[in-house]
Amino acid sequence: MIKITIQTAALTVLLWMLVGDFVFGWFNSNIKSKTQQNEHSSSSTATDSQDQSCFCHLTGVLDDCFCDIESIDVFNNFKIYPRIQNLIERDYFRYYKVNLKRPCPFWPDDSHCAIKDCQVEPCPESKIPVGIKAGNYNKYSQAANTISDIEECEQAHELGAINSTLSNRSKEAFADWARHDDAQDHFCELDDETSPDAEYVDLLLNPERFTGYKGPSAWRVWNSIYEENCFKPRSVYRQPLNPLAPSRGDDDGESFYNWLEGLCLEKRVFYRLISGLHSSINIHLCAQYLLDEGWGKTLWGPNVQEFRHRFDPAETKGEGTRRLKNLYFLYLIELRALSKVAPYFERSFVNLYTGNAQEDAATKDLLLHIFNETKAFPMHFDEKSMFAGKKIEAKTLKEEFRLHFKNISRIMDCVGCSKCRLWGKLQTQGLGTALKILFSEKEIKNLPENSPSKGFQLTRQEIVALLNAFGRLSTSIKELHNFRTLLKDRR
Ligand SMILES: *[C@@H]1O[C@H](CO)[C@@H](O)[C@H](O)[C@H]1NC(C)=O
Ligand SMILES: *[C@@H]1O[C@H](CO)[C@@H](O)[C@H](O)[C@H]1NC(C)=O
Ligand SMILES: *[C@@H]1O[C@H](CO)[C@@H](O)[C@H](O)[C@H]1NC(C)=O
Ligand SMILES: *[C@@H]1O[C@H](CO)[C@@H](O)[C@H](O)[C@H]1NC(C)=O
Repeated sequence: MIKITIQTAALTVLLWMLVGDFVFGWFNSNIKSKTQQNEHSSSSTATDSQDQSCFCHLTGVLDDCFCDIESIDVFNNFKIYPRIQNLIERDYFRYYKVNLKRPCPFWPDDSHCAIKDCQVEPCPESKIPVGIKAGNYNKYSQAANTISDIEECEQAHELGAINSTLSNRSKEAFADWARHDDAQDHFCELDDETSPDAEYVDLLLNPERFTGYKGPSAWRVWNSIYEENCFKPRSVYRQPLNPLAPSRGDDDGESFYNWLEGLCLEKRVFYRLISGLHSSINIHLCAQYLLDEGWGKTLWGPNVQEFRHRFDPAETKGEGTRRLKNLYFLYLIELRALSKVAPYFERSFVNLYTGNAQEDAATKDLLLHIFNETKAFPMHFDEKSMFAGKKIEAKTLKEEFRLHFKNISRIMDCVGCSKCRLWGKLQTQGLGTALKILFSEKEIKNLPENSPSKGFQLTRQEIVALLNAFGRLSTSIKELHNFRTLLKDRR
């Protein structure tokens, strides 16, 4: 039996309408934005040509020439994917220290899919038994219906829970790791890491997959990311990003593109990154879907129908392709970051400490091998056009970018399902680390050869997040290939 929850599908379509619109606008506005003026971008000399140079790479790689997407596929599926899978199974990368208990700072907490919350969820029309719909409503069938809702919520509760099992050996090792890391003198501290509530989670025991987490709580998280945390031009027309919001006047979408025209390159890039992350997370949930449950066994696997709901051009008003392109865009950004950060790790005194010298050396070798592959990749994203304006404005914009990103990672504290929260936090932190790397190019170049504690630094948590987040993107591209094959077979 294949379980497909109508609610999830509806939510998905809704979320994708959100993403799709602005992505479409992004592309459009790029073509149109010859005259864009914005207090930040107008200051960067030749906004236009910068826009073009960046976009050229994107069109070259992702839009005009489909074969280039194929070469990313080949590069990823054969060179990166097998190695990164191998890497993240190693002890250094499999334990991620994270605080999953931070209260949501933005609205009252409704975490962990409390059963009471699910009970009040309206029952979708399609789930109402035919007998009730036809009017012969009776107490018995109402009770039956409520029970199935509770069951569904309990399932979501169970699937979304974290398995915090850690072996005694690991626990002892963590204390040793902490002593080692504390001695490293990092210049920037992550608030989460130092909290007493921060705990190690075994990522291999808690794979990212379908959890049944959905409904208003999930909706609110993405909604607030898009509505409140993406950059908006200060002036004039404000088209709601939320398609449920009442539309103002007789706009037909055209105004939406005008709206986006006010944004400079950097801010549009921000949209694409968030959209790519959203695509990637949805691919994981479709690829590791709960297909069957019973006889004490659960079966996880790809759900083609769910995938088509989210990405098939026919079911997404043609937006599916653009959503997937944003995934490739995000992949290129993180890949670029990895190739840039290589010199930081190549210095001989940098080790991936777990206390087992032999294993640590093998882990580092594997990591350097992956860096070598990323450096050899011929079609890198050119980030030079970003934040290249006048010094002061570029600095302000960079800081704004950073704060917005930080805020988004705090919104992840509002994700109700623990496992979704774990992977949401990890992937946003990974992307945040990638951005930190891209904007620290000079610092990385100027790293002192023999002084471990001076200059650019990454904490263990950042390193683990960076590589695992990239591993997730790599998995998405691999899964995409599988879905394409499955869809072809169906025709
Ligand atoms: C957690 O994982 C361990 C190791 O795989 C397993 O033995 C245990 O049953 C799991 N616990 C739960 C609650 O799933
Ligand atoms: C792990 O440690 C706890 C407490 O220190 C102890 O009670 C337990 O027996 C240990 N388990 C194993 C498998 O060694
Ligand atoms: C951070 O996110 C919250 C919740 O969406 C929002 O209300 C707030 O304005 C955001 N702050 C910034 C600086 O973006
Ligand atoms: C990476 O490339 C460098 C230079 O080409 C080479 O010396 C080194 O051995 C390579 N490292 C790995 C782990 O493949």
